[in-house]
Amino acid sequence: MIIGVLKEPEFEKRVSLLPEAVKILKNLKADIAVEKNAGESAFASDKEYLDAGSEILDRDQVITKSDLLLSINKPEAATIKKLKKGQVLVSVFNPLAEKESVDQLLKSDQTFFSMDLIPRTTRGQAMDILSSMATIAGYRAVLDAALHLPNFFPMFMTAAGTIRPAKVLILGAGVAGLQAIAVARKLGAVVEVFDVRSAVKEQVQSLGGKFVEVEGATEDAAAGGYAVEQTEEFKAKQKQLIHDHAAKSNVIICTAQIPGRKAPVLIEKATIEAMKPGSVIIDLAASTGGNAELTEDGKTIVKHGITIIGNSNYPTDMPNDASRMYGNNLVNFLKLLIDEEGGLKMDFEDDIVKGTCMIHNKEIVSDRLKQFYA
Ligand code: NAI
Repeated sequence: MIIGVLKEPEFEKRVSLLPEAVKILKNLKADIAVEKNAGESAFASDKEYLDAGSEILDRDQVITKSDLLLSINKPEAATIKKLKKGQVLVSVFNPLAEKESVDQLLKSDQTFFSMDLIPRTTRGQAMDILSSMATIAGYRAVLDAALHLPNFFPMFMTAAGTIRPAKVLILGAGVAGLQAIAVARKLGAVVEVFDVRSAVKEQVQSLGGKFVEVEGATEDAAAGGYAVEQTEEFKAKQKQLIHDHAAKSNVIICTAQIPGRKAPVLIEKATIEAMKPGSVIIDLAASTGGNAELTEDGKTIVKHGITIIGNSNYPTDMPNDASRMYGNNLVNFLKLLIDEEGGLKMDFEDDIVKGTCMIHNKEIVSDRLKQFYA
């Protein structure tokens, strides 16, 4: 089979496969066609792709020639229109948030896999692009906060006096949050953390963070490591406690989310007003509304002296390693779709293939997605 790599849209610097990943797929007997300049902004030249054994073609040729196409951002309608019957497209469709585009794709004759549906199981870990990208976001969020903060992160004892360490409050200790704790601690900050899942308490502590407990959280072991909706009573209690801790913090990194829902608002305007001027909020949940009430997606704003950054695509700012991680996850997933002769196979008995398949034969395949739309 021929696997095609599409160039991403102008705003995106990542590419779905780096040349090193091409080599692995070539060893699995697949042929690779890469769109001209697809890797340029991720620091992978056409020559490196050629050396790795792929062809370099223009976009239309890649689309016509390939059996399976790869991208990170879902291709625009014009590209979808050009797809042939039976072609497979592996991308990130964000189907839990973009029902309209799922409805649109249900009318097409292709098979669509969405990498953000990879089940969060032990076997799925090596293919989990959300975890990879959240790792980058957690890391970059802390660096961005450190650069915007008018204070040091670490404690300094100098001839000019003692500088106190920055206080960082992290909301949500999933993948992004845990990475943010680790980086903030490495930079010498004092770190406090809120989460609704008690299972993360030990992980937070092992990274050197202080877990702030709020009693009465609703948890569901069947939610696959994700949080569930909380009661109004819990929310009020949690908001008050976050308010008290936020007022003493220099930086807040927001990462709290429940998949497929609007992000919970944990920091109200009054809390932002109570913070010290110069403080910084990085809201990683900006694309789903933000954990802070004043966050604006894709913007950096200053309100009441507080810098609020709603960057929803930190991974694109680190395109080389972000493409490497995405590509490694993708190769691990593609191994499930490539047979011994390098041909295409789709075994829907395999829980990961089934769980990641958004649409096949004009029907939703993933049980999680089916349930979500039921
Ligand atoms: P995750 O699901 O692993 O972690 C979210 C954490 O928030 C969980 O531990 C959950 O228990 C916690 N949480 C949920 N509701 C809460 C509440 N009310 N109070 C306290 N904690 C709560 O998600 P992951 O992968 O760490 O992603 C976190 C966020 O970062 C998501 O919004 C995701 O979309 C975003 N993200 C942003 C990127 C960017 O560049 N801005 C890149 C990648 C992810």
